[in-house]
Order: sequence, then C-alpha cells, then structure tokens
Amino acid sequence: MSAYPSFLFVCLGNICRSPLAEAAMRHEAEAAGLDLMIDSAGTGSWHIGKAPDPRSQAEALRHGIDISGYRARQVVTADFTRFDHIIAMDSSNFANLERLEPRSSRARLSMLLDHVPGWEGHDVDDPYFGGPEGFVTTWDQVSAAARNLVAAIRA
Ligand code: 4NP
Repeated sequence: MSAYPSFLFVCLGNICRSPLAEAAMRHEAEAAGLDLMIDSAGTGSWHIGKAPDPRSQAEALRHGIDISGYRARQVVTADFTRFDHIIAMDSSNFANLERLEPRSSRARLSMLLDHVPGWEGHDVDDPYFGGPEGFVTTWDQVSAAARNLVAAIRA
C-alpha cells in the first residue's frame, strides 16, 4: 500500500486521451522516483479490451514510451473508493463521472487542465475525429498536467 495518492485518468473511449495521460503520469512519476498507482479508463464501453488508438501509440512512442500493452476498460463504481484522484479529460467526462459517483466515494474529481495554471476549466479536446496534430496537442496538455501533479506530490 503506497502512502502516495493514486490517480485515475478518464476520457470517453480510453483509447486516445486518457492512455496518453496515464503514460505521461507514469513517465513523470518514474523520473521522480515515485511509486504511484496510476490507471486510465473510459466512461463509454465501445472500446473495452482494445489497445490505444494507433495515433496515441505513435505519439507516446515519439516520447520514448510504449503504450501498446495498454487495454481499454470502463469506469466502475469501485474506482471511486480505489483512487484518491479521478481526473476527467473534458467537461462531458466530468459530468458523467459526477453521475456515476456513489455515496461511498472518497475520490476527488477534477479536470486535467485544472492542474495547468491558466488552463483551469478547459477541455482536453477529443482528437479522435481529427488529424495527427490533435494528438500532439493532447500530449502537450497531458504532459504539462503530469509534470505539475508530480511536482505537487514532491512539494
Ligand atoms: P478518447 O477518444 O475518449 O480520448 O479515447 C475517443 C475515442 C473513441 C470515440 C470517441 C472518443 N468514439 O466515438 O468511438
């Protein structure tokens, strides 16, 4: 059992944005020597069991991170007692999490860009229906948030 907080990153499909957030957080935590419990999930069920979108895999690999072994899963009620922080990629994901949250929840809900000064309340836009440049933006945003989250734990 780790004394450090645990983190669950959530988007819609768990194949584009939240796997990149998970990867960035794992990368930053490892660089800081912190053994954190980190995972990602989707509010939707369409992609359960699937590997991340090839464009997310390629973007992670550009940063030296192999996420080909990740598999999509859906948010479950137990996540609200298992994780200290549940972090939504956009306001739609956030609203879905509020709807799913049980009374017994001990998780703190936030949006990812709440952890990047100046970007509070903004969405990590869904890159699924766009071109590869959207995944570059996603990486920039999730890696900035991950750096700040890890810095906050160390402080
Ligand atoms: P994600 O992106 O929520 O960042 O994983 C999406 C993936 C799939 C779909 C939508 C968003 N979809 O409609 O299938």
